[in-house]
Amino acid sequence: MLEQVDELLRTALSTLDKVTDLNELEDWRVRFVGRKSALTQILRSISSLPIDERRIVGARANQVKQTLEAKLAEKRMELEERLALTLQRSSIDITLPGKAVPLGRLHPTTRTLREICEIFVSMGFQVVEGPEVEWDYYNFEALNMPEEHPARDMFATLWVDFVNAEGRRPMLLRTHTSPVQIRVMEKSRPPIRIIAPGRVYRYEATDATHEWMFYQVEGLAVDKNITLSDLKGTLFEFVRRLFGEDRRCRFRCDYFPFVEPGVEMAIDCLICQGNGCRLCGNSGWIEILGAGMVHPEVLRRVNIDPEVYSGFAFGMGVERIPILRYGVDDIRLFYSNDLRFLEQF
Ligand code: PHE
Repeated sequence: MLEQVDELLRTALSTLDKVTDLNELEDWRVRFVGRKSALTQILRSISSLPIDERRIVGARANQVKQTLEAKLAEKRMELEERLALTLQRSSIDITLPGKAVPLGRLHPTTRTLREICEIFVSMGFQVVEGPEVEWDYYNFEALNMPEEHPARDMFATLWVDFVNAEGRRPMLLRTHTSPVQIRVMEKSRPPIRIIAPGRVYRYEATDATHEWMFYQVEGLAVDKNITLSDLKGTLFEFVRRLFGEDRRCRFRCDYFPFVEPGVEMAIDCLICQGNGCRLCGNSGWIEILGAGMVHPEVLRRVNIDPEVYSGFAFGMGVERIPILRYGVDDIRLFYSNDLRFLEQF
């Protein structure tokens, strides 16, 4: 009997050594010191032993039971401590700074285009687009600039002539958005109120104030009784919405073959408030767009009777606006993809 008790102790201790977590420890407890364990059986059967054996075996078995229970408590403490430590190490430190999600932003040109479109849309204009690769006809001819017309010199043109079996047709990268006027008037009848944003191209050496690609927004309104004062009213309202209520505007005569009369509109300088500075060349004024009343010849060509209808048109450079607003001193920054520039917007 004694031997059986000692054997039990040895097995129990060596098994306990292999226990690695609290679940295994519970199994161990049930097996070695639980109510149905061999040791408990022995302790229960002690009363049936002869009296002197009873004392020795009883003492020994009780001693073993105490040892095992002490070991159990010790092991439990050890395992609990280890568990707490693991939990602590793997837990989330909510005081750590978060990981920043990189956020893209809109290009200054895109933002300006959206702003411009929103203003004109709220005045009842519709946004349309035309092709960037354009026929000579739409870019020049239909706009009252036949071949050899000296006004073509205003637009340094990038030619991409189209050639097929039937011959060569003059094709180009549009030098302005005005050809969209013709495309719209060919397809629709007055009343017409459209704006046409898009890229335009000029055959130009680049420097701080020149790019070979930039954006324009064209505007066109054709209806009965449209006058120069409608043009003025529309553009004044546009300028006030874009640059602020107390902006002043100036109209002066200008020449474009496709309008008559032609005007150039300027606003008082945003930097010096009209007193004269480097930005406005000391004039106090900054030209922002060309405009005028659609030339009767242009209307006739698209079969709109100039005796019945009249219209106004305008065209403005888009980059000009953020350049003025933010004091950008080099237009090349817009399309050279330098993040140090783009991230400022
Ligand atoms: N297309 C002209 C330019 O690019 C601007 C303009 C548009 C002028 C419409 C008058 C009317 O310079």
